[in-house]
Amino acid sequence: MSDARNSLTAPAVTRLADYEAYPYRAEFCRLKFELDATRTLVTQETRFVRVDSAVSGIELFGKNLTRVSIKVDGEEVTEDRLVEIDETLLIRSVPKEFLLTVITQIDPQSNTALEGLYLSNGMFCTQCEAEGFRRITYYPDRPDVLSIFTTTVIADASYPVLLSNGNPVSETLLSDGRREVTWHDPFPKPCYLFALVGGDLSVRTDCFVTRSGRQVELRIYVEKNDLNRVDYALASLKRAMRWDEESFGREYDLDIFMIVAVSHFNMGAMENKGLNIFNSSCVLANSDAATDSAFQRIEAIVAHEYFHNWSGNRVTCRDWFQLSLKEGFTVFRDSEFTSDINSRAVKRIQDVNFLRSAQFTEDSGPTAHPVQPTEYLEISNFYTLTIYEKGAEVVRMIKTLLGPSLFRKGSDLYFERHDGEAVTIDDFVQAMAAVSGRDFTQFMRWYRQVGTPVLAVSSQFDSGRRVLNIEVEQRPPSDVGEGTQEPYLIPVSYQVFDQFTGQILIPEQLIELDGKTAQLELSVPHGDPILSVLRGLSAPVKLEFERPLSELMAIALYDDDGVSRWDAIQALYINAIRENMGHSTSEDSLETVIQVVQGLVNNPKTIDDPACVAEMLAMPQDNILWAAMQPADPQYILEARKSIRTSIAFALKELWEPLFRAMKVSGDYVPEADSIGRRSLSITALSYLARSGNADEILTKLFDGANNLTERFAAYRIARADASTEVSELLSDRFLELATTDEVLDLWLSTEAVNERTADLNRIKVLTEHPRFAWTNPNRVRAVIGAFSARNVKTFHSASGYRFLANAVLKLDSMNPQIAARLVNPLCQWSRFSKDYADLMKQELSFLISQKLSKDLYEIVDKSKG
Ligand code: TRP
Ligand code: ZN
Repeated sequence: MSDARNSLTAPAVTRLADYEAYPYRAEFCRLKFELDATRTLVTQETRFVRVDSAVSGIELFGKNLTRVSIKVDGEEVTEDRLVEIDETLLIRSVPKEFLLTVITQIDPQSNTALEGLYLSNGMFCTQCEAEGFRRITYYPDRPDVLSIFTTTVIADASYPVLLSNGNPVSETLLSDGRREVTWHDPFPKPCYLFALVGGDLSVRTDCFVTRSGRQVELRIYVEKNDLNRVDYALASLKRAMRWDEESFGREYDLDIFMIVAVSHFNMGAMENKGLNIFNSSCVLANSDAATDSAFQRIEAIVAHEYFHNWSGNRVTCRDWFQLSLKEGFTVFRDSEFTSDINSRAVKRIQDVNFLRSAQFTEDSGPTAHPVQPTEYLEISNFYTLTIYEKGAEVVRMIKTLLGPSLFRKGSDLYFERHDGEAVTIDDFVQAMAAVSGRDFTQFMRWYRQVGTPVLAVSSQFDSGRRVLNIEVEQRPPSDVGEGTQEPYLIPVSYQVFDQFTGQILIPEQLIELDGKTAQLELSVPHGDPILSVLRGLSAPVKLEFERPLSELMAIALYDDDGVSRWDAIQALYINAIRENMGHSTSEDSLETVIQVVQGLVNNPKTIDDPACVAEMLAMPQDNILWAAMQPADPQYILEARKSIRTSIAFALKELWEPLFRAMKVSGDYVPEADSIGRRSLSITALSYLARSGNADEILTKLFDGANNLTERFAAYRIARADASTEVSELLSDRFLELATTDEVLDLWLSTEAVNERTADLNRIKVLTEHPRFAWTNPNRVRAVIGAFSARNVKTFHSASGYRFLANAVLKLDSMNPQIAARLVNPLCQWSRFSKDYADLMKQELSFLISQKLSKDLYEIVDKSKG
């Protein structure tokens, strides 16, 4: 297979320290595509101008290309002037300024890696980030080479829609019946933002008037049957466009903005200039075919890609070590957008939950890396939670330190200074330094040091002097060597409130911890003070704060910070599970959890925010429990977790049905924050209800009566976990009948793949043999293999489960290395598990490393194999 690495040659490492500017400017780039499923011809004409007189040749990148012709100023370059090694092509001794003409032939049909130009369900589409453009033509495929692109696409009548970046220029019918369409993008861009689409697509159009009064045509292109699922994405796009004007002063710049939904896609979506390409699962939604969480995901991703038009496209990255410059900042921007239009507290809880359960795990595992990495084998492996989520946390801390108005000034200055440039993370921070006069030297360690630091906090109230003594101490991440890291600048927010009334005694303050430790003495004239600290997770650190159960309970019930409340109940769940496993802490955490849940539900103030209560009623994910109980025995922990859940369900048996009914939303379905929150809590109540007794009738009724997929899906999922076998099977069949779209099918596949009662390995195999399953479609693979290995603890964590995943990964690697490299992750976590499990996982990694692997998979397995 062409993507497979030859295991004899060590793959080359790319290092930040080796960065050198490209010695040429690319003044313009004209592309012509003659589309054909197996033999597409690509003609490139680029004008290069030398800017570094020390060189005489030019180096381009190319991969899996059939070279048809290479000309310099119209003359064919002879073979003796060409040196092609791996992905680089050197043309020796070229003039100072010249026109390069390259003709290549490519095969989109056999491109299952989904990088470069490929066919997705018969539709031509491209994915060029990070290094896909080199699979199209020989070109300086690096983000610091910007050019002005003009693209001509020629295809026969079976591909009536032909799109590329920028504005449409011309359209002609050729004498042979083919159509020729030309697009021009006036904004200089790196080739990773290039895009092309060709197919028989339907379109919905709309219009947006920018704040300066310019008309922008909006278009969403989808496959023929999907037009009834585009309205929400379109409305989200308009909200995002308006919000970016109001919150960041960013206006859209072309006459047209297009989104195309494709069924085969490695990631969520891609911000190509003026032509965003989306995984169909991140665009298509209506009440019958998408759940509340799908709606929310779609809105966030549509906004994310749109926001890249400034943070990524107008100002781009100098090299891929700066990836978080665009991704961290853009995730920060999309989460601010979501917070502004929905509930800030709930969004923050969700982000913190995700950061802790997934990014903290990555940060303490074999593939841990700084937000600004220093080296890589395969850049596709660095589209990580650390680059995205931790990167966003770092930007968030900058805002916390500067305050909103200086932060906005810094953002404005950054865009103004660097518009049209390819820049670094340092340039971003320097703009923030310039507007604030702050010194960011120490702060930069958040970008350069790896791992999650620990913040240890203790507080003691001296009731005689009425002084609250607080001590905070930072420690380097536990898995990096002592003395290898310098202290971080940690913004620590805190507030003091009364343990019994909830009254605020000292309003929120911020300490900037820049040394190892700090002490505070707060005078508290009256009340029973309790410290709320690291509010809203003011820094991405692991908080160590031993508190008595009574304090955790007070925080869970009365703190006015959602994250702190959620965090307190999480600690209680973990304690309860520990107790259940015999790791006793003498106190009764379970009893406290039950009291807190009861308190949350019965208190009119807390129940006023059902979404927040729903988050608090969700027990910690396996990842979190494993981290808290090292080395973890996954099966034992699973049993303990189930037992605690059952105890809570039974202890509050009388609560669930009234709560379910009280929160149930009636009337027309709207995917808006308030009703999403209520549905979420009513569904949580229903799942406890089903655990505490027979809910067959309520579940079938809900399934039949619902006017939306969220409730139907909930009824099916809960039935699969806790209903009678009969109802469980019935709702599974009924849900599958609803799965006329791929997105609903994926919900069914993943629910079946994680269902402990039925999903043994045989069942997983059967799912991969479903007529609508295809190993070449990443969404199907994630739905079955991804869900099984990440969420079906019972079946996955066994010798045969590990073996199954290793074989699936190997099979995938020959088709799609990016997907294989991501799917192998669960096996790479072996060091977190007790010896029996760890040994079995390591065995699979050594099996994999002995095989011929892609560079992508090789890098991950090699780092993880121990
Ligand atoms: N830039 C995209 C985003 O975050 C990420 C992306 C889309 C991507 N497709 C990819 C990254 C393929 C690597 C490979 O918005
Ligand atoms: Zn992005």
